Amino acid sequence: MSKETSEILFRPGLEGVPVTHSAICDIDGLNGNLTYRGYPIEELAAHSTFLETAYLLIWGELPTQDQLREFEAQVQMHRRVSFRVRDMLKCFPATGHPMDALQASAASLGLFYSRRAIDKPQYIYDAVVRLIAKIPTMVAAFQLIRKGQDPIQPRDDLAYSANFLYMLTEREPDPLAARIFDRCLILHAEHSLNASTFSARVTASTLTDPYAVVASAVGTLAGPLHGGANEDVLAMLEEIEKADGAGDFLDNAISKKRKIMGFGHREYRVKDPRASILQCLAEEMFARFGKDDMYEVATALEEEASTRLGPKGIYPNVDFYSGLVYRKLGIPRDLFTPVFAISRVAGWLAHWKEQLGANRIFRPSQIYTGAQKRAWLPLEERSNSIDA
Ligand code: ACO
Repeated sequence: MSKETSEILFRPGLEGVPVTHSAICDIDGLNGNLTYRGYPIEELAAHSTFLETAYLLIWGELPTQDQLREFEAQVQMHRRVSFRVRDMLKCFPATGHPMDALQASAASLGLFYSRRAIDKPQYIYDAVVRLIAKIPTMVAAFQLIRKGQDPIQPRDDLAYSANFLYMLTEREPDPLAARIFDRCLILHAEHSLNASTFSARVTASTLTDPYAVVASAVGTLAGPLHGGANEDVLAMLEEIEKADGAGDFLDNAISKKRKIMGFGHREYRVKDPRASILQCLAEEMFARFGKDDMYEVATALEEEASTRLGPKGIYPNVDFYSGLVYRKLGIPRDLFTPVFAISRVAGWLAHWKEQLGANRIFRPSQIYTGAQKRAWLPLEERSNSIDA
């Protein structure tokens, strides 16, 4: 391909460039509609459970009663992790970020399970079950370990989300809190070709094992422009401090070209539908468990931003209200992104399976901008300096 043609095709960040066919999730960013396998996110968040939604995403149809019962039972059976994984987590520095601990522990699962049968439906089923079951256990285990405690075992009498909150906080959660958390997991489970899912698909396209696929996606999700933004939203709200400070904060940030965390999205030109549902969940949490002063700051910021950023199509994204819900649930701030990963693993696995169904290894091209061919220089003749 000529350099001129490459320049015409080049889109920084692959914006608007299709890289695959996919039947998993559809985003209508102009009207703020999101569907998983054709089902609107609002209906799934209202009626489904996270495990049912994960099944839908990965196998394409809502499960029958028997299929769901079996899937839930398998996930429950595989929640425990090997003492070797727990010992590995104990070796990590307590000051390290939990996303790094999760990335390492997700990758470590590949050491325990063979990678040789990725084309077999039973292997895919088992890998899905293990990853969905064990990731919450590993996140909760690292949380207790870094506090100097021993991880606690999953409780078989608790459903998926209630069990995670129990392993994390060592208290059986209120049923409403557990249901709200489960709905948060549904909302974060899938979102087409975002950076981490693309990363998962690129890794999957090499036919490596699903643990490596998920580990690479976890590493990508960790960045502040992606999943890591929800941590920064609370810090920003605390910096604003009071609702009447929102306008000045925005003016100042915009003049300094500082990004407002939890705002903006490559796909949406309106408010992210997940942000609207999360806002309702936040209000439900505050009505039941007491208010959070930062919520007023958040709504004031959203209102002030509508005139300043709205004309550019910049509105709250999924990360804007999720942190307020998670804080009320007793989830520490640096676990917000690992919690995102607990949910998004369903989408990553759906894309892994879809990629395997029509695989071609990803190998994009580049436009070379480096030096032309030149002669090697002996050491004593060199005088250049580099930015180290
Ligand atoms: N605050 C202020 N201005 C913004 C914001 C924002 N949050 N987002 C975009 N803009 C502006 C940019 O400054 C730019 O303006 P310009 O054209 O005058 O230079 C324009 O909108 C386009 O911005 P890009 O960064 O090029 O848009 P892109 O589609 O590449 O970025 C992204 C999307 C990364 C999400 C961006 O909106 C952002 O950084 N948001 C803040 C971080 C965040 O909340 N991330 C979570 C996203 S959701 C998720 O990943 C789960």
